Amino acid sequence: MWQHPGHDREVPAGTPLKEGFSLTIHPVIVDLWRERCGIAHLGSLTLVPSHPLDDGVLAVRDFEPLAQAVTEPAMWDYLTNGAGDQRSLSENIAAWQRPEFVPRVLVPADDADTAVSIFNRRWPHPIALAPTAFQSSYHPEGEAGSLRGALASGATYIQSTMSSVPLNELGVIAREGNEDGRGHWWFQTYLNPDRGVTRALVESAVAAGAEAVVLTVDSPVLAARDADRRNNRHLMPDDGVQAHQRILNPVIDPLASWEDIDWLREVSGVPVVVKGVLHPDDAVRAVDHGAAAVVVSNHGARNLDTVVPTAQVLPHVVHAVAGRAHVLVDGGIRRGTDIVRALALGADAVLIGRPYVWALASHGAAGVQHCVEILRTELSMAMLLLGAPSRAELTAELFGLHL
Ligand SMILES: Cc1cc2nc3c(=O)[nH]c(=O)nc-3n(C[C@H](O)[C@H](O)[C@H](O)COP(=O)(O)O)c2cc1C
Repeated sequence: MWQHPGHDREVPAGTPLKEGFSLTIHPVIVDLWRERCGIAHLGSLTLVPSHPLDDGVLAVRDFEPLAQAVTEPAMWDYLTNGAGDQRSLSENIAAWQRPEFVPRVLVPADDADTAVSIFNRRWPHPIALAPTAFQSSYHPEGEAGSLRGALASGATYIQSTMSSVPLNELGVIAREGNEDGRGHWWFQTYLNPDRGVTRALVESAVAAGAEAVVLTVDSPVLAARDADRRNNRHLMPDDGVQAHQRILNPVIDPLASWEDIDWLREVSGVPVVVKGVLHPDDAVRAVDHGAAAVVVSNHGARNLDTVVPTAQVLPHVVHAVAGRAHVLVDGGIRRGTDIVRALALGADAVLIGRPYVWALASHGAAGVQHCVEILRTELSMAMLLLGAPSRAELTAELFGLHL
């Protein structure tokens, strides 16, 4: 039974809509609902059309328990946990709740324009998929599933160096999914102690269609991720920093420096994106050395605990970069309102990490597509509710501030 606020009687679920709403909603509207939305009875009233993947998934967070149910526990720990006491993990998310919005009203608009332009390519929305390692551990399709989901939802996919699907295979999928025959995907790399290894990887990624190279610079050593250390004890019996370094050193050169960005730009021939910058001066330095974009990132709070949340430093980085390069941001983006905040604080686009891996784990490529679509829908809703229906209106004035 359902008590309508305007009624003094109870309305049983299944009551014809016209009857249930007759006191408050004009019959013409009830007819429109029935004809256009297929809503005929109370109890089936829903504002969002149901999705074939629904499984109760309305927000990206809803993928999380579904993913956990099908993921091997050690890989679940690897996916979800942050470093240390995981303070930055929760702070990354909390920081997107501030500052509060001060919406504007009576702004005539019936749709939001979520498009942005990155490296002269039009993105239908500002959402990209962050590089995440070992995706075959979460779904048999692995990175191929994520790429397919990205292509279907208009998201740019960033392929991790730690991938389980060969680069040329990804290139084929990307070309099949795009009429212009180009990628819509970027390749993430570290700087290998042997630059020849990095060069060969980057060249094969670009040959396969990667449109930019993302250089991750925030991981000179492995982090204290306690659950991973516990789970991997059998692999690293002495379980100390030394053992972790033995694993990491062949992959990431702790002696990498700024000149390596110039070098990477030269050998790749595509825009270089520097990922893992937090200090505004580092962002400027990256741009001075040829970075076409920076990603404000603390690696999803997986590296240094108690590090500053990305939302907090974003406006400072944007200010310092002063339009000389694109500024992207990731870490804790879980809602359309988080994306609005990021754009209002000056970001050109956002990356999501864990949410799309949850979706991949639970539903494969279709899940990844749905995950991006949920965020894009939330983004549009938020823009309309804020009275800011286009990118140009997403500024600090949404917080009642003039930054
Ligand atoms: C399971 C997992 C694996 C990751 N692997 C990589 C990687 O290989 N390279 C990289 O640059 N970042 C990696 N990251 C960090 C992400 O690119 C991104 O910065 C982070 O996930 C964003 O935070 P969010 O998960 O809260 O959205 C990884 C993150 C996760 C969760």
